[in-house]
Order: sequence, then C-alpha cells, then structure tokens
Amino acid sequence: MSEQKTILITGGAGFIGSHLVQLLVKKYAGYKIVNLDKLTYAGNLENLKEVENYPNYQFVKGDITDVPFLEKFFAQNEFDGIIHLAAESHVDRSITDPMGFIQTNIVGTVNLLNVARKQWTGKSGKRFYHVSTDEVYGTLGETGYFLESTAYDPRSPYSASKASSDHLVRAYYHTYDFPIVISNCSNNYGPYQFPEKLIPLMINNIRHEQPLPVYGDGKYTRDWLWVGDHAEAIDLIFHKGKNGETYNIGGNNEWKNIDLVEQLCDLMDALLDRPKGNSRKLITFVKDRPGHDKRYAIDATKIKDELGWSPKIQALEGLRLTSQWYLENTEWLDHITSGAYQAYYQQQYL
Ligand code: NAD
Ligand code: DAU
Repeated sequence: MSEQKTILITGGAGFIGSHLVQLLVKKYAGYKIVNLDKLTYAGNLENLKEVENYPNYQFVKGDITDVPFLEKFFAQNEFDGIIHLAAESHVDRSITDPMGFIQTNIVGTVNLLNVARKQWTGKSGKRFYHVSTDEVYGTLGETGYFLESTAYDPRSPYSASKASSDHLVRAYYHTYDFPIVISNCSNNYGPYQFPEKLIPLMINNIRHEQPLPVYGDGKYTRDWLWVGDHAEAIDLIFHKGKNGETYNIGGNNEWKNIDLVEQLCDLMDALLDRPKGNSRKLITFVKDRPGHDKRYAIDATKIKDELGWSPKIQALEGLRLTSQWYLENTEWLDHITSGAYQAYYQQQYL
C-alpha cells in the first residue's frame, strides 16, 4: 500500500488527464485521487469508466474560473499535491475565440494558485505541478531543439495563454516560495483524444471516407509522444522532480504532417481491408492555420539524465495501436462527435 496522500488533478476527464488519473488510481492505492473537471466539450467521463468505482477515486464537477466554488472546495478538502491540466487546449479554437483561453488557462490557473497558497501557507511537503506545452517556445527552423532554457516566443492565443500561466506559476515560486514544478511537453497522441486534433480527426475521416484536411503545404513538423509515456513522465516529475524546476518532455519522434497522414492512410487501409492507396486519395490541402508554427522538437536530455525517463512506445507501433483503438471504440467516437462538435467541424472545414 502506497503512502496516504490526497492529490487533486484538474482536467482529469480530458485526454491526457484521463490517462493520468487511470495511472495514479491504479498505481497508488493509498492515494485519494480527486478529479476536478468542468466537463467542457473536451471532458468526457466515459474516458474514466475503468476507474470510476475504485474506492480511491472521486470526481467533482467544477470550474477553475469560479472563485467562490474553488474557495468552498478548498475549505472542504485538504490536498497534498495538485497536478493542473485543466485548460482549453485546441489551437484552432483559440484563433476563432481567444477569450475562453484567457479565462481558463490564465485566470483559472491563478485562481488555483491562490487557493492552494492560502491552504498551504506554513505547511511543508506540498507540490503544485503545472502541465504545459512546448508551444510556449514558438517555432523552430529545419534544425535545433527546444531546451528548458529556450526563450519563450508564443505565437497563437493558445500558446500565449499557456506561456502566461507558466510565467505566473514561476512567479509564485520566486515571490512566495510556493512549491511548484512545470513540464513542457510535445504533441501527444493515443486513445481518448478528442477528434479535432490531427491524428484522431484523420482516423475518423478515413473511417467515414471524408476529405482529410491538411493545412498549407503539409510540411509542418511535430514531435509526437504516446500519451501513456507522458502520463508516466508526469508521475515521475510529480514524485521526483525538484521544486522550481522545468522539465521538457518529448517523443524524439518528428513527423511532417503530410508524411504522418499518409502513414495513417496506409495503416487504416490495411486495418479496414481497403485497397492500398485508397485513403490517400482523400487528402485535401486546405487554407493554412494563421501563425502556423513550422516545427516543434524537444530536447528531453534533462528528464532522461536527472529522472531516468524516456519514451517506451515507438512511432509506428503507437500509430497502429491508436488506429486500432479508434476502430474498436466507434461508440465512444460517435458519442463525442455528435451534436455540437459536428456543427463546429462543419463550420471550420466543410
Ligand atoms: P483536453 O482539451 O483533452 O482536456 C482538457 C480538460 O480540461 C477537459 O476535461 C475539460 O473539461 C477541462 N477543463 C477545461 N476548462 C476547464 C475549467 N475552466 N475548469 C475545469 N476544467 C476545465 O486537453 P489535453 O490535450 O488533455 O491537455 C491537458 C493539458 O496538457 C493542457 O493543459 C494542455 O495545455 C497540456 N498539453 C497538451 C498536449 C497535447 O498534445 N494534447 C501537449 C502538451 C501539453
Ligand atoms: O505541441 C503541443 C501541443 O500540441 C499542445 O499544447 C496542444 O494542446 C495540442 O493541441 C497540440 O497542438 P497542435 O496545434 O500541434 O496540434 P493539432 O493536432 O491541432 O495539429 C497538429 C498539426 O497538424 C499542426 O501542424 C496543424 C496540422 N493540422 C491539424 C488539423 C486539426 C492539419 O494539417 N489539419 C488538421 O485538420
């Protein structure tokens, strides 16, 4: 039985959060894991079916922008640690409607810092872990990598809101000696990802033989990381990282978007018993994303050397596992893409 602790996870019904909740609930029987989530379009309790009846798991519906709620919630619950993932996470939505990103990602983060600081003042052994993104570093050219020391240069409302929250979290460390740790991670993929993000969107469209919208010339590069590897890195940093430090997390797995989409087409053709080359015909180059960052790539030497983490799932295996998972979970996919999301998608792309 692990040590007794009460850990708050925000955004635990989302993509990465649900993998993290499952990992921690199963691994640490002595921990009480409290999942606080607003259940926006991206939050889905179906992601947590496997652990919903575990005695050490509790779900609380709540909004981190609601200060009276947070104050009451913190008055009723004492936490040993907080792992903060709740955010608006989709770059395209931040371009069409930035304000929700400012509210949740910046104001919501400061609200949490304030209630935690009030609860933890004069106490030791606490930790606030802010989960962030490599997009705060801006964009790379053909070569080079993001290091923890790379200057911030965010270029979308989403990345600017995450950069702002990172700065505020660090400011609480320097100003109030508040115990924080931050990680900046590259693009995640795997089961339970909302199908507005590149990989599940393409899988779902291939499934329905719909156009595959590739932005611009498709030669934009992302460093893809299996979501389970990210959850393990968060577990490690939360337990072994040093206060005040930042850790970059990446997959060492760069793909140009067009190459990735072609790979998915071929994988899906094989899984669906369609003739090879069938799905590639669906690829459609569409208008580029404004301010589109050319390339992201992480240097993850620090977390490897200091904490011994490196990704376990390799590129092709991960893409095959992901494609298979979505094909085996069409009910989940159809639920989450019904209603409001369909209207948003049609307005964006069709
Ligand atoms: P997601 O959009 O799948 O999930 C976000 C969750 O936050 C949802 O469950 C949503 O309901 C909840 N939420 C949103 N606003 C809230 C509010 N005001 N109060 C309470 N809950 C709220 O996001 P994700 O992809 O799982 O990302 C999780 C975190 O990791 C984010 O902070 C994101 O910036 C960061 N991140 C994501 C990636 C990636 O590739 N997806 C990479 C690096 C970092
Ligand atoms: O790098 C980490 C970030 O990765 C996270 O912080 C974000 O929360 C997450 O959404 C992700 O951001 P991206 O913008 O990189 O992910 P997205 O899946 O939206 O797009 C990946 C690439 O694919 C990007 O270059 C844009 C392109 N794209 C995306 C979509 C949805 C397309 O060409 N067509 C599409 O339809």
